[in-house]
Amino acid sequence: ANAPLRVLVTGAAGQIGYAIVPMIARGVMLGPDQPVILHMLDIEPAAEALNGVKMEMIDAAFPLLKGVIATTDVVEACMGVNVAVMVGGFPRKEGMERKDVMSKNVSIYKAQASALEKHAAADCKVLVVANPANTNALILKEFAPSIPEKNITCLTRLDHNRALGQISERLDVPVSDVKNVIIWGNHSSTQYPDVNHATVTTSGREKPVRELVADDQWLNTEFITTVQQRGAAIIKARKMSSALSAAGAACDHIRDWVLGTPKGTWVSMGVYSDGSYGIQPGLIYSFPVTCEKGNWSIVQGLKIDEFSRAKMDATAKELTEEKSLAYSCLN
Ligand code: NAI
Repeated sequence: ANAPLRVLVTGAAGQIGYAIVPMIARGVMLGPDQPVILHMLDIEPAAEALNGVKMEMIDAAFPLLKGVIATTDVVEACMGVNVAVMVGGFPRKEGMERKDVMSKNVSIYKAQASALEKHAAADCKVLVVANPANTNALILKEFAPSIPEKNITCLTRLDHNRALGQISERLDVPVSDVKNVIIWGNHSSTQYPDVNHATVTTSGREKPVRELVADDQWLNTEFITTVQQRGAAIIKARKMSSALSAAGAACDHIRDWVLGTPKGTWVSMGVYSDGSYGIQPGLIYSFPVTCEKGNWSIVQGLKIDEFSRAKMDATAKELTEEKSLAYSCLN
């Protein structure tokens, strides 16, 4: 049998936390043959609720679950973890300035970076979910210099999955037959959901989404805004933000990263830019990636038209601004 892997979930008493911990314990994230030990972190005001989640995890008697730690101590939480899913953060409250929210999250991610750097397993894979996800991941990277930059990522898989879902609904095909959409850039409303290389498998053949949808007007406008604003639409409907889909996407992200993407399929991940596609190095930017043996690599050589170029640059510009705002909070 495999030795258990330790998985940290921060913000584990929150909405996404409650949805993701049973998924992890059922093998959705690391596979049905991989035992896990869960490390759940939250802050003092949520300690009692966190303990309630721990009680339920015990009561669920998951066969793969070999231990549960519930703690408000960041050092204990990070000790020896192989995977870190960073969901905890400071939410934007009504009337708050962007800078104030940024400042709170910068200090959280700075502190948690140091704890991970000192106490996590050397090859720990980190996924930042909490918003502003790209910039929180960048801060984490900056303050954990001994963690390889390839190991620090942020979640845009939810946006990717939303794009697959919209195409699937529009064409009335199973979502599993749609692939290779791309989310470029920031996990925010400036993200660019790109279908120029996406395909649908019909009667055993892969066809371009552009050919099957045949309504460029819809693809270039409504499709894009629907994906960009899906988070807000969920809040409006549910009065709470996406949680089950976010938890599912976080599991998809780690699973594909660790176990590999299927041949001929790529996914979107927020990763440290190496300058691919003319995106400034030093940003955490969402790219199309394939994964093999625990490593991701950016898909190269995709043709970028003028429409895409402008949208890819606009979201990069927003990330540059977020980065300088984050740095101004450090001083
Ligand atoms: P939530 O408010 O229900 O839960 C957040 C939890 O984090 C709370 O239990 C809170 O006590 C905890 N927390 C706050 N500061 C912490 C700290 N320093 N250390 C550990 N825990 C801390 O929020 P929800 O709905 O679970 O969302 C979590 C985050 O994920 C939010 O920032 C949200 O904006 C983001 N999000 C990102 C998505 C993405 O696709 N990247 C999708 C959906 C949400």
